[in-house]
Amino acid sequence: MQLNRDEEAILAGEKGEGGRKAMELLVALGDIYGAERLVPISSAHLSGVSYKTIGEGGIGLLEEMSSARVCVPTTLNPAGMDRRRWEEMGISPRFADRQRHIIECYERLGVTSDCSCTPYLGTNVPKRGQHLAWAESSALSFANSVIGARTNREGGPGALAAAIIGKTPEYGLHIEANRAPAVVIEVEGEDIDYSMLGQAAGAIAGARIPYFRGIRPTIDQLKTLAAAMAASGSVAMFHVEGITPEAGSFSIAGLERVTIGHREMAAAREKVNTGSDPELVAFGCPHLSVDEIRQLAAMLKGRRRQGDAEVWFCTSRHTLAACPKEAKELERFGKLVCDTCMVVTPIEERFKCTATNSGKACNYLATLCSQKVVFRDAKGLVELIS
Ligand code: F3S
Repeated sequence: MQLNRDEEAILAGEKGEGGRKAMELLVALGDIYGAERLVPISSAHLSGVSYKTIGEGGIGLLEEMSSARVCVPTTLNPAGMDRRRWEEMGISPRFADRQRHIIECYERLGVTSDCSCTPYLGTNVPKRGQHLAWAESSALSFANSVIGARTNREGGPGALAAAIIGKTPEYGLHIEANRAPAVVIEVEGEDIDYSMLGQAAGAIAGARIPYFRGIRPTIDQLKTLAAAMAASGSVAMFHVEGITPEAGSFSIAGLERVTIGHREMAAAREKVNTGSDPELVAFGCPHLSVDEIRQLAAMLKGRRRQGDAEVWFCTSRHTLAACPKEAKELERFGKLVCDTCMVVTPIEERFKCTATNSGKACNYLATLCSQKVVFRDAKGLVELIS
């Protein structure tokens, strides 16, 4: 990879040890992926925040970077606990202590700590064509697909290095030609469950870019679809005919074609449903939007709380502040949980079976949280608790 004089100076340590380490990582990534140069980024979004996932090793790496500062707007993914309600979540004081330390490390680097996987809903909103370094699989897929910004599927350290340098190696989805679809997915049927469509489509697409026909998803449904495909496959970008901004930019002639209908979605649903008696019912993966909170409040209005499962509505503080009245309605049924989610907090220490309406959560609750999973759509979850 070619570096200019400034970049060479950073690599030589002339701007501090944190900058040198960050540049070294970017150069290594660029060399692995065949990038010719670094490209300036408009923002970064970092994963690797929960103490549950990064542990002491991750804290050590963050401490090593402490002399550096990010130089573009940079946001953080969910942490391992709600910073205000951690005791109610059953988090131990030691975990809380280490979690706070991680967030402080990021804050010292200049990172904004809203701790949400939906920064594109308010705290970090990219524009079409901007280059980014984002490291949350659902958010980066949304940014690429729905907004038309350009980011690879970054890991936490790569995104942090890019945030410190303000640049990222130019390869993969930063290059126009690599944003072309590779498989056409024809969707059949009405009343599509976007979690299960994403679950089925991600398994077919793998790491390829799918091009959907036959659906007209809302923004929230696109967010659900992006998340599910990022987990059941490793989809970092998709197109929806007539909806997403770059869908019309590429020809789909000659591409493999696959049909997904209710049969395939029912099969996906059957596969993820491994439990029957949830101890935790968790909404909000990705974090609930204002519209989703309003819809849930409308569904729950006039109903009574039933059952003894714990109930969480996971969202960002930014979103929560925008709908306090509806949030109050939800509080009659469970906890509004911010800064975290059902996957990155240590639920396995308290629960064995969790209900969700998220395709992404279905995958990770089983693999990262040792949970039996009950999958229902949002209405189905409402029926479980009222
Ligand atoms: Fe967000 Fe957690 Fe789901 S980070 S996308 S709510 S697994």
